[in-house]
Amino acid sequence: MIYLDNAATTFPKPPETEAAMVEAIRSLGNAGRGAHASSLAAGRKIYQVREMLAELFHAEDSSRIAFAQNTTQALNTAIFGTLAPGDHVITTMCDHNSVLRPLYLLEKRGVSLTVIPADEKGRIDYDAMRKAVRRETKAIVVTHASNLTGNVTDLKTVVKIAKDNGFLLIVDAAQTAGILPIDVQKTGIDILCFPGHKGLFGPQGTGGIYVRNGLTVRPLMVGGSGVKSFEQEHPREMPTALEAGTMNAHGIAGLGGGLSFIRKTGIEMIRKREEGLAGRFLEQIREMKKVTVYGDFSGETERVGTIALNIGDMDSGEAAERLAEEYDIAVRAGAHCAPLMHKALGIEARGAVRFSFSYFNTKEEIDEAARAVQEMAEEG
Ligand code: ALA
Repeated sequence: MIYLDNAATTFPKPPETEAAMVEAIRSLGNAGRGAHASSLAAGRKIYQVREMLAELFHAEDSSRIAFAQNTTQALNTAIFGTLAPGDHVITTMCDHNSVLRPLYLLEKRGVSLTVIPADEKGRIDYDAMRKAVRRETKAIVVTHASNLTGNVTDLKTVVKIAKDNGFLLIVDAAQTAGILPIDVQKTGIDILCFPGHKGLFGPQGTGGIYVRNGLTVRPLMVGGSGVKSFEQEHPREMPTALEAGTMNAHGIAGLGGGLSFIRKTGIEMIRKREEGLAGRFLEQIREMKKVTVYGDFSGETERVGTIALNIGDMDSGEAAERLAEEYDIAVRAGAHCAPLMHKALGIEARGAVRFSFSYFNTKEEIDEAARAVQEMAEEG
């Protein structure tokens, strides 16, 4: 199989991930729940991975990072934990349902919402963002890169709008963690939500949330914490404040394996390779007759290794099915949980076929995928 659905989850994972998980399953107990060796080992492993994440994202210290089961859980924590009725919040048409649906729900509970438009190339209207700010604006929630077009958000501009007006910047790094360098302190990100199973090469069921020093986020869940058990209230100290119940120590250990791979390889090298592969694919398909590519390729917008396209007037689901069945190529079609992005691009009815690349893809796989697109375009 040629796997080009890395924006959904990276595959394969590096050997470090697998080895760390096997080791964890064989050795770890429940962290913070006992004084025996296996419980202590689990606690140490979780701490070690937290430290690695803090280093990767340049957090003040590792206590500012809480683990979550995925980016959606982290975003729900960020959104429900900071906004209240009467607040105003801003997001964009480029954002995913993991941002939009929590915000729509809050809208029903008295939070007002502004969705900033994007144009037919998926570019955010930053002027509209500036103009949307109100006295009661509490936060902006924005994706760092679209999971459909691969366009990277101009965070510098967004940070300036947020800082000039004194509201929170919540960033969805689902498509960028492990791929683009992220320095939360230098950039001025208040909350960063990230997956473990995409660019960080961890297993599914892992992810996390960074909350800047001095900021309190109300928890989504409370319960067992292993500490202060006689108190009725869940501990308020980070990271325990946002972590209730048994931790996914086996998954977190695997995430640690993925992070070790990133450390060893270098994030710049990973980025360069992905960029090279995406560029190679784009070069071959962009001039093909009947192939329409979505996103900004003018050079003005930074990009990640994700390319969405359509072939003639073929339905995207049919194209993806043919790629899987006739060519053994794995891609994602349809709406990609990004309904407003599809609306901005004018492809709500048919969706798009998304090719997303990772460090482990080869030039031969890229050429094979481009050849498949060409054949289908010629036939169709
Ligand atoms: N959000 C993931 C994607 O874009 C699952 O496919």
